[in-house]
Amino acid sequence: MKTMLAIAVGAWLGLWGAGAQAHETLKLDAPKPDLLAAPPIGWNSWNKYACNINEDIVRKQADAMAASGLKDAGYQYIVIDDCWQKSRDADGNIQVDLERFPSGMKALIDYVHARGLKFGLYSDAGALTCGGRPGSAGHEFQDARQYAKWGVDYLKYDWCYTGTRDAEAAYTIMAKALRESGRDIVLSICEWGDNYPQRWAAPLGHLWRTTGDIYDAWEGKRGYSLGMVNILDKQVDLWRYSGPNRWNDPDMLEVGNGGMTTTEYEAHFSLWAMLAAPLIAGNDLSNMDAETLRILTNKDVIAVDQDPLGQQAKRIWKEGDLEIWARPLKGGDQAVVLFNRGAAPAEMSVSWEQLNLPAGLRVQVTDLWSKTVTRNVKARFGATVAAHGVIMVRLRPQV
Ligand code: GLA
Repeated sequence: MKTMLAIAVGAWLGLWGAGAQAHETLKLDAPKPDLLAAPPIGWNSWNKYACNINEDIVRKQADAMAASGLKDAGYQYIVIDDCWQKSRDADGNIQVDLERFPSGMKALIDYVHARGLKFGLYSDAGALTCGGRPGSAGHEFQDARQYAKWGVDYLKYDWCYTGTRDAEAAYTIMAKALRESGRDIVLSICEWGDNYPQRWAAPLGHLWRTTGDIYDAWEGKRGYSLGMVNILDKQVDLWRYSGPNRWNDPDMLEVGNGGMTTTEYEAHFSLWAMLAAPLIAGNDLSNMDAETLRILTNKDVIAVDQDPLGQQAKRIWKEGDLEIWARPLKGGDQAVVLFNRGAAPAEMSVSWEQLNLPAGLRVQVTDLWSKTVTRNVKARFGATVAAHGVIMVRLRPQV
């Protein structure tokens, strides 16, 4: 497998004129750095700003993350997505778009780091990024060294304009480049699940996108983009591939962007936590209402996402619009979501049998949104679940 990979990568590099040494230089000698024991949690510019991003906006997000309670709730990464790049100089060095980032990248990264946060950037394995800016093809090692010099902690690496390239080979090159850059940098693989990354991406990166882009709607399809529940449906069979340092990525959060109701955003946030998904906020953190902040900083829900066992939830039951999702947590607790996709409230319940618990076991049930704690629950737990809503609970066996 390793040899085949080296050959594939070598063959590709040959096309770019790197010649016979490619086989030797493209063995992934260095181990993947242990950087994401839990899924990444932070903010990314794309969902709200797309290409309309600049350094003022980024500084405001860093300030807000540090001051609003998000950092205290565990948020760490500030990631600039596409459109920070402009061109390459005569030596091939990537040039920042100085109209948008007049202070340069290093100053902005220092600003983010000074707030006790980590910093991420975006690039692409093709000649161009999806937004038409210079990609990293043929410049992987040079770019990785530049990122390291600037102090980048996280790279989201996209898949536009890659033609017939082999995805595993292409991501191997950037994985190697980052590992040789002299800095620990998370590799976030973004090839939209097209080439079954769950089968090959774990040795290379720390997370991989499993679908096309999310857009800010409960449900729907818009070109390559999908509504929240359409993305959810594509995660059902992926639980077996996920774990510490190897997370499935169902794309970023839309909480607070205005296209869903508060109930729907609670469901979105809860379900992403159940999936051990990256919790990457995509709204304007410097201008959010109390409901948005309340959702994004729900520490009990975040604790499920970040649980050290790293076990992604399974959908253990579905009938029509009603679903039950469950995941085991470290220490013997379980997180359960009763999910109602329907347009009317529904009575739902989960039995201990469905959760592989003895029927006679007394369980403490904590509602992670209302914070209600009920003790001595036996055999099953039930509740009324709002339309398009969830009840999310943590079950703790009593002794
Ligand atoms: C792709 C990715 C998105 C975003 C844009 C940027 O569509 O999937 O998440 O990074 O490119 O152009």
